[in-house]
Amino acid sequence: MSTPVSARHLPDDAEPAPPSTLVVFGASGDLTKRLLMPALYNLAREKALDPAFEVIGVDHLERGEDDFRAYLTTSMQALVKEGGGEFEAARLDLQAWNWIAGRLRYLTGDFDDPETYRRLAERLEKRAKENGHANAVFYLATAPRFFGTVIERLGAAGLTRETEKGFRRIVIEKPFGTDLASAEALNRRILKIAGESQLYRIDHFLGKETVQNIMVLRFANGFFEPLWNRDHIDHVQITAAETVGVEHRGRFYEATGALRDMVPNHMFQLLAMTAMEAPNSFGADAVRSEKAKVIEAVRRWSPEEAGENSVRGQYDAGSVLGRPMRPYTQEPDVAPDSTTETYVALKLMIDNWRWASVPFYIRTGKSMAVRRTEIAIQFKQAPSILFRGTPAGLPDPNLLVFRIQPSEGISLRFAAKVPGRTVRLGEVDMDFRYSDYFAAEPSTGYETLIYDCLIGDPTLFQRADNIEAGWSAVQPFLDCWAQPSGGVHLYKSGGSGPLAADALMKRDGRAWLPLSPAV
Ligand code: BG6
Repeated sequence: MSTPVSARHLPDDAEPAPPSTLVVFGASGDLTKRLLMPALYNLAREKALDPAFEVIGVDHLERGEDDFRAYLTTSMQALVKEGGGEFEAARLDLQAWNWIAGRLRYLTGDFDDPETYRRLAERLEKRAKENGHANAVFYLATAPRFFGTVIERLGAAGLTRETEKGFRRIVIEKPFGTDLASAEALNRRILKIAGESQLYRIDHFLGKETVQNIMVLRFANGFFEPLWNRDHIDHVQITAAETVGVEHRGRFYEATGALRDMVPNHMFQLLAMTAMEAPNSFGADAVRSEKAKVIEAVRRWSPEEAGENSVRGQYDAGSVLGRPMRPYTQEPDVAPDSTTETYVALKLMIDNWRWASVPFYIRTGKSMAVRRTEIAIQFKQAPSILFRGTPAGLPDPNLLVFRIQPSEGISLRFAAKVPGRTVRLGEVDMDFRYSDYFAAEPSTGYETLIYDCLIGDPTLFQRADNIEAGWSAVQPFLDCWAQPSGGVHLYKSGGSGPLAADALMKRDGRAWLPLSPAV
């Protein structure tokens, strides 16, 4: 085995990001404390931020700057102590945290009040005079209903105008819309204010090292590509299983459900990385165009077909990793008769030359047996003539699995001879674990995204057409499920999802990979 090398969030020769002001709308919210602050802290540890970097938190909560700093310091300490979330650290590196804390400013104001933006403009002008730059990133860590309003108010206050003194960029969190029509409307609304090159729509899956790695594996290695098509691949399974339930997000989840929450964004990122054509370059638009193209090629089922090719599930009581779980309908802020899905399985077809007749099965759910995100490529069976009528039995098809989380790596399953005088076949796995070769720094995934936005690289962000392609591909399922007949199948918490999802595969003579706690 080679010596482990350090895989940092940033390449070792990466320059610190240019000086800038990060304006966070929703500064007292969950995302800011749980993900943005840990990511900024990690960037500070890596010396990836400029000394003139500053954060201005904006929120309606009346509080002073010292109070804001104390609140975030306490929450960082709690994250370190509790562990188990996206942020892992043995201890808080006070030097790095104080570097960030000393750059935290706060502005009290309502998101729809023009006065908030007038005062923000004053602050930014003052900073421009002091630092000689006017670079600003506006990060919308707010509830989605504010996205359009904040951007319009920023525009009206002249804050989205770029000059030779500085860039103006806007980061928009998910969910971006709730269906195709609302996503198109939001795009139209914000594109009146800012150019596409100023808009950075986040999908945090793209900040994950291993998701980015799929493209490198496919296109930097010669042996995958010749096999990567309908001649050799039987089907693809994409899984994102979670052990958590909806936790404190009942209100959001009731209106959202598993399909909207995970599929047009995260699951389609995995699908696009797996199925896209090689881009002409790693340039942002080359990559994003190929991704949009492949999602646009996902077959739009008729309402009837959408029903036949989808399964909605909802978790019932059970136990996950030894912890008792209550049914979804007893979670806080969830209606006792809710039919919102916490699990979805879909069969998709991609109507292009490479993938014609190769089904892509995707499933995602909460409160399941294991936490596992993976992409499994099942190859076509080798001709079995040689082994017919012998004790060897028929060889199983080869399976290539990209493991995204929690343990990152790749495994290839193939047949080998079981030692002995008769020829018998046994299945073996050739296993590559990322951690055996690369010493990765703990990362929330947001480090790369924030850094890329500061340096102006939108490759890992969604263009308007990427977002719309995703919604357009799930729209047939949304339409079909909106019919009163669309029921939901209960599944036991801690299991593998509803039986109906097994039936979806079985009718094609296939089966999901087991979700056993192994690996
Ligand atoms: C979020 C969804 O976007 O992604 C959550 O809203 C989900 O419901 C989460 O749990 C999964 O992300 P990760 O990084 O934990 O796999």
